Amino acid sequence: MNQFYSKHFLKLTDFSKEEILELIKIAEKLKYDKKTFKEKKKLINKNIILIFEKNSTRTRCSFEIACFDQGANVTYLNIKDSHIGYKESLKDSARILSNMYDGLQYRGKYQKNLEIIAKYSKIPVWNGLTNEFHPTQILADLLTIKEHIKNKNIDQIKLSYIGDINNNISFSLIEASIIIGFELYLISPQKIKASNNPYINNLIKKLKNKNNIHITDNINVGIKNTDFIYTDIWLSMGEKTSLKLWEKKINKFLNYQVNKSLLVKSKNPNIKIMHCLPSLHLYNHYKKLFNKKIISKYKLFNGLEITDEVFESNNSIIFQQAENKIHTIKAIIIASLLKEKY
Ligand code: CP
Ligand code: NVA
Repeated sequence: MNQFYSKHFLKLTDFSKEEILELIKIAEKLKYDKKTFKEKKKLINKNIILIFEKNSTRTRCSFEIACFDQGANVTYLNIKDSHIGYKESLKDSARILSNMYDGLQYRGKYQKNLEIIAKYSKIPVWNGLTNEFHPTQILADLLTIKEHIKNKNIDQIKLSYIGDINNNISFSLIEASIIIGFELYLISPQKIKASNNPYINNLIKKLKNKNNIHITDNINVGIKNTDFIYTDIWLSMGEKTSLKLWEKKINKFLNYQVNKSLLVKSKNPNIKIMHCLPSLHLYNHYKKLFNKKIISKYKLFNGLEITDEVFESNNSIIFQQAENKIHTIKAIIIASLLKEKY
């Protein structure tokens, strides 16, 4: 029996380094099989439910395509169109749906809600993003990283994450670095905020004795000789979308934008640029979100967290990250639903 059978995928630190590397290997094989038209449908007659409390493009489509490719049937449920969490408790919803389906994806606000669903489900539950973690994203990122390192293993790379270090992407990257052991620089004017959130407090505790993870506001230190620069949107879905908060974030992070001069500071001409997406790099797109005053006050004519020039450059592996979500999500679904090893 394969070691992932019947297991949930809630956060990366629930798994060992060997298990994470094994999931990446399964994804590589699935990607190869799909690209060479050799993929076999192993999930025929399986029914999958995808529950979304927040918006999604990539994660939803990756789950759906993974299911279609493998012959599984999919229900998409926007939480607003259902009783989940309102007229019906998460505990009841989990028990009802796990009698109907074989696997359940949940994207929502709180990790603790996901944990409740997982506790009362008889079927594997997969985290499609919470305020705290985004493990399916980081698994796709690790596959993408592996595809771009020739003379190194994943545990030998230096990855610099820059910008808002108090979000699901930075937290899941920290988890990945704790498990795998690669050098992680978190570059930001922020510290990781202690809170009454047990998941974040646990992460802070685990960070204390890790000398491969560094938090710095010094861009030169964090970026020098790095292999990968990773950034994320400055305002995450769990936060209030107000112009006031946007302005606060812009003011805080503008010096931490991924732009040409940052790439020069890395002193690595082969540096790779990563972003989980969505991104505000295109002026004609994001100008609709802000008023003219903010745009001209902060001279936001060439991108927010990343400039359009860098986003579109040859160093960018952003679209490969997005595509790889299909293969890694498929690996997670197959590994947890099928008894035999893939
Ligand atoms: N990166 C990511 O999770 O994208 P979506 O929000 O579009 O799913
Ligand atoms: N930090 C972002 C990630 C989006 C994929 C958010 O939660 O909105």
